[in-house]
Amino acid sequence: MSSLSSSESRVLSGMRPTGKLHLGHYHGVLKNWVELQHRYDCYFFVADWHALTTHYDERDILGRNVWEMVVDWLACGVNPKLARIFVQSRVPEHAELHLLLSMITPLGWLERVPTYKDQQEKLKEKDLATYGFLGYPLLMSSDILVYKADAVPVGEDQIAHVEITREIARRFNHMYGREPGFEEKAEAAVRKMGKKNAKLYQTLRKRYQEQGDQEALAVARALLEEQQNITLGDRERLIGYLDGSGRNILPEPQALLTPASRMPGLDGQKMSKSYGNTIALREPLDEVERKIRTMPTDPARVRRTDPGEPTKCPVWDFHKIYSDEDTQEWVLKGCRSAGIGCLECKGPVIDAVKAELKPIQERAQEYEQDPDLVRRIVAEGTDEARSAARETMSEVRAAMGLDYR
Ligand code: TRP
Ligand code: SF4
Repeated sequence: MSSLSSSESRVLSGMRPTGKLHLGHYHGVLKNWVELQHRYDCYFFVADWHALTTHYDERDILGRNVWEMVVDWLACGVNPKLARIFVQSRVPEHAELHLLLSMITPLGWLERVPTYKDQQEKLKEKDLATYGFLGYPLLMSSDILVYKADAVPVGEDQIAHVEITREIARRFNHMYGREPGFEEKAEAAVRKMGKKNAKLYQTLRKRYQEQGDQEALAVARALLEEQQNITLGDRERLIGYLDGSGRNILPEPQALLTPASRMPGLDGQKMSKSYGNTIALREPLDEVERKIRTMPTDPARVRRTDPGEPTKCPVWDFHKIYSDEDTQEWVLKGCRSAGIGCLECKGPVIDAVKAELKPIQERAQEYEQDPDLVRRIVAEGTDEARSAARETMSEVRAAMGLDYR
């Protein structure tokens, strides 16, 4: 696997369109995306088909949710100059790959993915005994593999999906990695490296294949890493030709585990729409203030003179995210000694959350007022994504024998 710190490494991630996002999304996902876009070649997309696997009866809100979410991404600093922002259903190649991969995906693999049963249990009111829902992880695999993504930033709950993606890629490569004319194509790729490098590659390859010389293998791999003028396809052929494994048409992605969001909700549970404990990114600032002022605190502090314990108080969790050490010290001391009141204690949190949201809301408003701009950004992102996806699909079709005339 090539080193993951180069800007050539491709990162892909998606989010189901849930409408307006909240602080949990910002601290849990978006801040991470914004950082990644500076270091990797990033693809971020709206997984609208994934939304339909569970919410197939909510077509009326799908579109609105998509655009609201994209506005929030942009407002939080996802930058269309650095990352491609697009919508899954506008890149039909995802669906084609999903179909083709379904031919070689054992049913048992899908049935065993933990989210399959979990979600059916959780969303009891919905009939999820559908073909589409069973295929949720495979659709996600297609999202990832159609871009040959090196890395996929996901939360804990999605790790199993990246794992099945790796298994499917392995199975695909094993079945179809020996493309017709592989040897000739590999030899042609060797020549494209130029005389000197070609000769070096051949020597190293021979040393590895005839004598099992691991060092020769490592040196040859490094040599391939350095080559600037060969295509991705040729590079993969040369890697496969080197160690005799054939060609990895679909590289196995790595999961980049997003550090668990420390963003608690207003009641101390995880911030989530279904708990009704969120602060939306576009929550009016006076409403933000009201929500924090009415947050529950350590129940021991009935009267102002009763001391409290910050570790039993959801407001403290906010201080841990938003306050510097001095302020935190002030809270710990003031709470335990009843030196400060709860409203006083909430003051710095209110200020910090408002200060964080203000520029986000200003940017959101600009995008809201210019829906054409948002459409254009997504259209451009989609075009770029599609041309990458098309390349993969022509290789996949050929590998599966579909390029006949
Ligand atoms: N299943 C993901 C979620 O619910 C969203 C998603 C769809 C995704 N396709 C993806 C994430 C591909 C990463 C890569 O959060
Ligand atoms: Fe919570 Fe602060 Fe009140 Fe202590 S003083 S209970 S930390 S709000």
